Amino acid sequence: MDDLKAKYLGLIADAQDESTLEDLRVQAVGKKGEISLKMRELGKMSPEERQVAGPALNALKDEINSALAAKKAALADAALDERLRTEWLDVTLPGRPRRQGTLHPISQVSEEVTAIFAEMGFSVAEGPRIDTDWYNFDALNIPGHHPARAEMDTFYLHRAEGDNRPPHVLRTHTSPVQIRSMEAMGAPLRIICPGGVYRADYDQTHTPMFHQVEGLALDTDISMANLKWVLEEFVKAYFEVDDVELRFRASHFPFTEPSAEVDIRCSWEGGQLKVGEGDDWLEILGSGMVHPKVIAAGGIDPEVYQGFAFGMGIDRIAMLKYGIPDLRAFFDSDLRWLRHYGFAALDMPNLHGGLSR
Ligand code: DAH
Repeated sequence: MDDLKAKYLGLIADAQDESTLEDLRVQAVGKKGEISLKMRELGKMSPEERQVAGPALNALKDEINSALAAKKAALADAALDERLRTEWLDVTLPGRPRRQGTLHPISQVSEEVTAIFAEMGFSVAEGPRIDTDWYNFDALNIPGHHPARAEMDTFYLHRAEGDNRPPHVLRTHTSPVQIRSMEAMGAPLRIICPGGVYRADYDQTHTPMFHQVEGLALDTDISMANLKWVLEEFVKAYFEVDDVELRFRASHFPFTEPSAEVDIRCSWEGGQLKVGEGDDWLEILGSGMVHPKVIAAGGIDPEVYQGFAFGMGIDRIAMLKYGIPDLRAFFDSDLRWLRHYGFAALDMPNLHGGLSR
C-alpha cells in the first residue's frame, strides 16, 4: 500500500496537464484501477485483516483523490497565469499614425453645419429613424390620401396580423423632428436636426439611405425675412465665400405656407463649382413659413407663435463643396475613397479656426 501511495503521489506531482491527470485517475481509482482491484481482494481476507486493510485502502483512495483535485486546480491556475502573461495588452499605447482613420465627409459636413447654426443660436435636436406615420406624415399636414406620401417612396415596416400598434415607417425626411422638438421643448424654439433618412430609390444621385438637416425657428415675431437672412449667413459660411446671391422660388410643401425652394448663384467653369458668381443656379434646399396646422400638431398655439423651417440634403451639399461626383460611393466603405475624401479626425470645424482646413 505504501508503494502504491508513493507511486501515485509521485506521478500526480509530476503531471504536466489535465489529460495525464485523468489517465492517472483511471489507473489508480477508476473502476478497474489498481486501488479498486485491491479493494475487491478485501472479500478474500480474514475479518481481522479486512478490519485493517479496509480503512487503509479507503484512506489511500481519499488521499489520491484529493491529490488529483489539488493538482488539477494548480494546473488551471498556472494555465490562467500563462494566458494573462501572454495575452497582456497595453491599452495606453498611442495609436499608430499610419492606421488612423478619417472622418467621413458626411460627419464632417454635419459638424460644419452644426457649428454654423450653433453660432446663430440653434441647438441640435434628434429623433428616431423609425417613426410612426403620424409623425412622418399626418402631423406635417400630409394626410393619408395626399400624393406626397406616394412620391416619397416610403419604406413601411412589416406589421404582423393582429398587431394594433400604429404603422411605422423609416422616416423619409427629418421633418418629423420638428413635431417631436415642439412637443418636447415648446416655443420659442430654434433647432436643427441632422440625420439619416430613407427612401426606396437608387441611382447616381439617390441612395436608399441619405442625410438631411432640418431647421426650425419659432417665436412671436418671425417672418420670411429672418429665414432669408439665416440662410444667406449659412450659405456664405458653409461655402466659405464673402458674398452669395440666393433666389427664392415659389414652391409647395404641405408643411409650409408659403413655401420656397432656394437656389444659389454659381458657375460651373471647367466642371468646377464656384459659388457666388456666374449665370447658373443651384437648388440647395426647401423651406417656408411653418404651416399653422403643423405648429398646432406640435402642441403649440399658432395664433401666438409662427416661424420658418427648412430642409437640406447633407450628402448633396457635401458633394457640391468637396467635388464628390457619385453619391453611391459615400456608402461603399471603400478605404481608398475614405482616405481620399476623409477629414482629419481630430480637427473639429469651427467658424473662427476655419471650417474645412
Ligand atoms: N422635408 C422636405 C423633403 O424631404 C424638405 C423640406 C422642405 C423641409 C421644406 C422643410 C421645409 O422643413 O420647410 O423633401
